[in-house]
Amino acid sequence: MQRNPSSQTRIIIQTNAKTLPYGEIVDIFYAAPAAPEPPAPVPPVAPAQPSQSFLQAVETRRSHYSITNTSPVSDERIVQVIQHAVTHVPSSWNSQSSRALVLFSDEHQWVWDAVVNALKAITGGAKFEAAAGKVNASMRAGHGTVLFFEDEDVVRDLQAKFPTYKDDFATWSEQTSGMVQFITWVAIEEEGLGANLQHYNKLIEAEVKSHFNVPPSWRLVAQMPFGEPNAEPGEKTFHPIEPRVKVYGL
Ligand SMILES: Cc1cc2nc3c(=O)[nH]c(=O)nc-3n(C[C@H](O)[C@H](O)[C@H](O)COP(=O)(O)O)c2cc1C
Repeated sequence: MQRNPSSQTRIIIQTNAKTLPYGEIVDIFYAAPAAPEPPAPVPPVAPAQPSQSFLQAVETRRSHYSITNTSPVSDERIVQVIQHAVTHVPSSWNSQSSRALVLFSDEHQWVWDAVVNALKAITGGAKFEAAAGKVNASMRAGHGTVLFFEDEDVVRDLQAKFPTYKDDFATWSEQTSGMVQFITWVAIEEEGLGANLQHYNKLIEAEVKSHFNVPPSWRLVAQMPFGEPNAEPGEKTFHPIEPRVKVYGL
C-alpha cells in the first residue's frame, strides 16, 4: 500500500462507530486521486491503408511487350524474387506443386529460338513473319525468361490421398500456378522490370524438357519473358465494377 499524502487522497477507516462517538481509527489508506477528465476526443485521422502499397503494385503491373535485354537489378535478385514467389504461394493442401526455371543469356535466347522454329513448322509466309516478329520484339528482346511448371506427380499423389476431391486437384494446381505467375509478375515489376505472359506450351514442351533435363512429371504452364521496359504499356480499359462485385449486408 502506498502512503504518499502529497499525491493521494487520505481515507480514514473507522470502526466501533456505535460504541465510540467517532469510531476508532483502524487504518489510513491513501487512495489514488480521481482520474482527470479525459481530453475531448480528437477526430480520428484517416487511417493509413495497410494494403495500399500492395494494391498499388497490383495496379502498376502491366503486360510489357517492349522490353530490353538489360535489368535494373542483379540476376541474383531476380532469382531471389522468383524463389520467394514459389516458396510463399499458397497451394491446395500446401502441396507446393509449382516449379520454375529462370533463364538468362543463351538459355533465355534458346527458348525463343525454339518457339520461332515451332511456329515455322506450323505456319508460313506472312503469318509466320508476323508471329516471329512479335516473338523477337517482345520476348527474345528481353533479359530473361521464367518458365512455370506444375508437377503432375504432386497432383496425382493428392488425387490418390483424397479421392473425394480427385476432380479438383488439377484445377487447384492451375490456380496455384496462376498465383505464382502473378506474384512473380508483380514483384519483378516492382524491381523495375517489365514482363509479359505467354503460352507456347505444347509447341515447345518436349524440347524444353529435353534441353533443360526437366523431370517428366513437370508440365509446362506458361512463359514469362522479362526485361527493362522501354515503352509505356498500352492503354487499358475497365468494365464498370458494380455489376462485377456485389456487396450484401454492408
Ligand atoms: C491467364 C492469362 C493468360 C494470358 N495469356 C497471354 C498470352 O498467351 N499472350 C499474351 O501476350 N498475353 C497473355 N496474357 C496477358 C493479357 O492479355 C493481359 O494481362 C490483359 O490484356 C490485361 O493487360 P495487362 O496485363 O497490361 O493488365 C494473359 C493473361 C492471363 C491472366
